[in-house]
Amino acid sequence: MSEHAATTLPSGRRAIKAVIPAAGLATRFLPATKAVPKELLPVVDRPVLQYIVEEAAAAGITDVLLITGRGKTSMVDHFDRQPYLESRLEEKGDKERLAAVRKPSQLADIYTCRQHEPLGLGHAVGCAEAHVGDEPFAVLLGDEFVDLADPLLPAMLDLQARTGGIVLSFMEVAPEETKRYGIASVIDPEPEVADIGEVVRVTGLVEKPSQEDAPSNLAVLGRYVLPGAIFQAIKSTGPGSGGEIQLTDAMAMLLDQGTPVHGIVYRGTRYDTGMPLGYLQAVVQIASQREDLGEAFTSWLRNFVGTRT
Ligand code: G1P
Repeated sequence: MSEHAATTLPSGRRAIKAVIPAAGLATRFLPATKAVPKELLPVVDRPVLQYIVEEAAAAGITDVLLITGRGKTSMVDHFDRQPYLESRLEEKGDKERLAAVRKPSQLADIYTCRQHEPLGLGHAVGCAEAHVGDEPFAVLLGDEFVDLADPLLPAMLDLQARTGGIVLSFMEVAPEETKRYGIASVIDPEPEVADIGEVVRVTGLVEKPSQEDAPSNLAVLGRYVLPGAIFQAIKSTGPGSGGEIQLTDAMAMLLDQGTPVHGIVYRGTRYDTGMPLGYLQAVVQIASQREDLGEAFTSWLRNFVGTRT
């Protein structure tokens, strides 16, 4: 039996821990992110990171580990209680704001761990080993989230509990976009897992290939459910694309060793707040869906766009 076999057996139970790598330098968003972590940029009135933790909590995740870096500790404060602020709101009888201020601290148990050097996504996930142990766990990248009304994580967690392997999610991208993502080659899945959604079986993974080298247009979205065996694979993974230790390369290693890898094709809305354009699109889409300001905002927006065309 290989050293990984024991840790990739189906557990029949959904993972309950999640890791959010949020240690990056966010160079694509400078200078805004010089002193403010990109994960705390607001989308309307909640920071990006809160949407992500809400997505995890809604899928049954109860334990969240934030991988942080230097200058990013304010992220943790957002999920703490704020007794002074809370008592002021209580005195004023402002129940709505009080509930909004308390909500982040009620979503899940939040833990943190430092990635001492920005050596890549694979390395950041590797920092979670002591907290996660040998259990399967979810990874949610800290600058993207999906529409809560069209969730993705529950089906991924169900699928991983059945296979014991790696579960990814994919979105279709234009050929010229493959160089921004991990790209998979896939085949039809086994009949036993085909009922969970639009499931594919992964036969190969490559990080940020050029249009010519891309094996498909299926891009890895920032949601993963991984077995504990990934930690050993990360330790054996050298620098890859961009000189960084890539999670994609560690997953490709497990795939080569026989770990089952599946993906669910996601056709809902994914918000990518890691860059100014995607961030603006997320703010506009979410603001226009909000019950309290959607109507006023879209009516202003229609007018504004009308005057620009
Ligand atoms: C990371 C992963 C990549 C994945 C992408 C999704 O890339 O390395 O495989 O497709 O997230 O957003 P990054 O955006 O950190 O460059």
